[in-house]
Amino acid sequence: MNYLASLVTLLLLGQECVGYCPSLCVCKNKAGDGAAPEVEAGDPLRLKCGGSPTQLTELKEIDLSQVLTTVISLNLSGNAITVLSRELQLPNLQKLDLSKNQISLIESDAFYNMTSLQRLDLSNNQISNIYKEMFKGLVNLERLIMTHNHISVLPVGTFDYLVGLKQLDITENPLICDCELLWVADWSRNTSVKLVGNPKCASPENMLNKTVRKLKIFLDLSACGSLLPITTLVVKPYQNQVVFEGDSLNLSCNAPFASVLAKYELKWIHPMLEICDVNETTTDMQEEGLAETTLFFPNLTNHHTGNWTCAYSDQNHIKHNHTVEVVVISNTTKYCMTNHTIDNKGLYAWPQVLLNHTASVPCRSGEGLAYRYCQANATWGMPNTTACSYTSNVTKLLQQFALLNISLVQYSAVNATERLALLIQEKTYPLAEISDPDDVMFIAAAIRNYMQYIEEEQDLGKW
Ligand SMILES: *[C@@H]1O[C@H](CO)[C@@H](O)[C@H](O)[C@H]1NC(C)=O
Ligand SMILES: *[C@@H]1O[C@H](CO)[C@@H](O)[C@H](O)[C@H]1NC(C)=O
Ligand SMILES: *[C@@H]1O[C@H](CO)[C@@H](O)[C@H](O)[C@H]1NC(C)=O
Ligand SMILES: *[C@@H]1O[C@H](CO)[C@@H](O)[C@H](O)[C@H]1NC(C)=O
Ligand SMILES: *[C@@H]1O[C@H](CO)[C@@H](O)[C@H](O)[C@H]1NC(C)=O
Ligand SMILES: *[C@@H]1O[C@H](CO)[C@@H](O)[C@H](O)[C@H]1NC(C)=O
Ligand SMILES: *[C@@H]1O[C@H](CO)[C@@H](O)[C@H](O)[C@H]1NC(C)=O
Ligand SMILES: *[C@@H]1O[C@H](CO)[C@@H](O)[C@H](O)[C@H]1NC(C)=O
Ligand SMILES: *[C@@H]1O[C@H](CO)[C@@H](O)[C@H](O)[C@H]1NC(C)=O
Ligand SMILES: *[C@@H]1O[C@H](CO)[C@@H](O)[C@H](O)[C@H]1NC(C)=O
Ligand SMILES: *[C@@H]1O[C@H](CO)[C@@H](O)[C@H](O)[C@H]1NC(C)=O
Ligand SMILES: *[C@@H]1O[C@H](CO)[C@@H](O)[C@H](O)[C@H]1NC(C)=O
Repeated sequence: MNYLASLVTLLLLGQECVGYCPSLCVCKNKAGDGAAPEVEAGDPLRLKCGGSPTQLTELKEIDLSQVLTTVISLNLSGNAITVLSRELQLPNLQKLDLSKNQISLIESDAFYNMTSLQRLDLSNNQISNIYKEMFKGLVNLERLIMTHNHISVLPVGTFDYLVGLKQLDITENPLICDCELLWVADWSRNTSVKLVGNPKCASPENMLNKTVRKLKIFLDLSACGSLLPITTLVVKPYQNQVVFEGDSLNLSCNAPFASVLAKYELKWIHPMLEICDVNETTTDMQEEGLAETTLFFPNLTNHHTGNWTCAYSDQNHIKHNHTVEVVVISNTTKYCMTNHTIDNKGLYAWPQVLLNHTASVPCRSGEGLAYRYCQANATWGMPNTTACSYTSNVTKLLQQFALLNISLVQYSAVNATERLALLIQEKTYPLAEISDPDDVMFIAAAIRNYMQYIEEEQDLGKW
């Protein structure tokens, strides 16, 4: 009697309390290291399903409907599954092992509601096509293992939905290292994602066994050109420097287009580099993924004056250089202070310049340069803006009248004189727009210019 009663109780428990375990699966509760074979209903479940000798070929073969919310770990390794579609809707699943199957197709919503998933192992399958949408919903995924598949291409942004990703293993895939894959290297450098196991390129032939993480630019610069905007040296400071004796100075030169795939040289050139007090630091792509050379002048002296050229060259005959002129001035050196001038060619700001040197700045209007000499007594000379255009439209017009070559144009000198008279009248009354001394000079020049032709025309008229 007693025995029968407990048997009934057990059967009841079997329905009410003891958890159900899907057929073809082995269940363990969370703590269960070889613990009780029974599993309490509602406890977190760890499942291992299929595997030899009863390999699953489809996910449908296991019925997870009664454990949907309790499964936290699912091991499907060593089956013969070929397609992943939306059959695993397990919102609390944290760990999913699908390694050693024959998966070749993953549908876009395969992992749709698995927001708790942290580890996903897809290694040793036949996956060749991976794309952004298939990872949608995996917001907590931290480890993604895809080693030993057939992946050759990774479209830009493939892992964008995996916002929590920390480790990615894509080793042992036939990766094609062309411009399309370049983003992976940048992405891993700019995020906290670690490319586990140092994935290598499988093709093209000249890239074989190169490290994906270190890809920067390809031997064929033009092919990747549009993807890589920076193709010039980044030198800081970029402008010429006027510095004081005894101060310190840093000059850095960075070649962002340098590649670990091509042998290159990046160096500073200056006749005094070897003998004067300069600290040179060179960082090489090979070690740091950065090509940079930096000069530190702890105590500037007159020896450091001159042109410091940063030069890049590589085995593909690509060359770049940039020069910074350093002028070291001491307390005894004299120079002209910054100064500005305004004239009929506009406002010009003159930089600090050494004695007996000429400063030059671009014209405010028109091509060409404006000059100003710094005299031996450390005062500025007169600015020379000859090559620049006038800022006043009236002056520009009068200048044209003065230069007009009557013999080359349609109308006569009398006509031209009449038009000049009209212009002067219009620009003087009621508003006096003719105000610059150069205006009067141009009027005088125009009159002299036309006069000779007026005499000629009168002579012709007599005939
Ligand atoms: C997926 O998750 C969303 C939000 O968590 C829920 O509304 C939806 O019903 C789920 N879909 C399935 C098929 O479980
Ligand atoms: C590339 O690596 C593989 C495996 O490490 C090796 O067998 C092969 O010889 C390497 N090829 C080259 C060209 O380095
Ligand atoms: C320059 O480098 C030398 C050794 O390379 C070091 O001893 C020295 O302290 C450095 N000077 C400065 C100012 O960093
Ligand atoms: C800088 O160099 C000058 C002359 O070479 C020397 O007199 C001075 O002590 C140096 N200053 C420092 C901070 O080393
Ligand atoms: C530096 O280069 C500029 C332009 O090439 C040149 O005019 C100047 O004389 C050079 N300075 C020195 C000190 O060599
Ligand atoms: C720097 O580049 C210019 C052309 O851009 C070239 O004429 C010059 O020789 C180069 N200078 C050095 C030091 O390589
Ligand atoms: C230059 O003058 C400044 C102050 O005007 C002083 O601090 C500095 O030590 C002087 N430098 C030299 C090299 O005499
Ligand atoms: C500037 O030129 C004058 C005369 O041409 C000369 O006497 C003087 O030594 C020069 N000064 C400098 C600093 O070169
Ligand atoms: C500086 O020298 C120029 C000519 O060399 C002269 O015209 C000017 O008056 C001088 N200025 C001063 C302040 O000595
Ligand atoms: C600019 O230079 C001129 C001539 O050297 C001087 O008279 C004027 O005061 C300077 N202006 C400024 C703002 O320093
Ligand atoms: C002014 O500069 C021009 C070049 O722009 C030059 O031809 C001319 O000789 C200069 N004039 C003076 C007075 O230096
Ligand atoms: C001068 O002429 C230009 C074009 O001819 C015009 O755009 C500008 O407004 C004029 N400036 C004035 C001050 O009239």
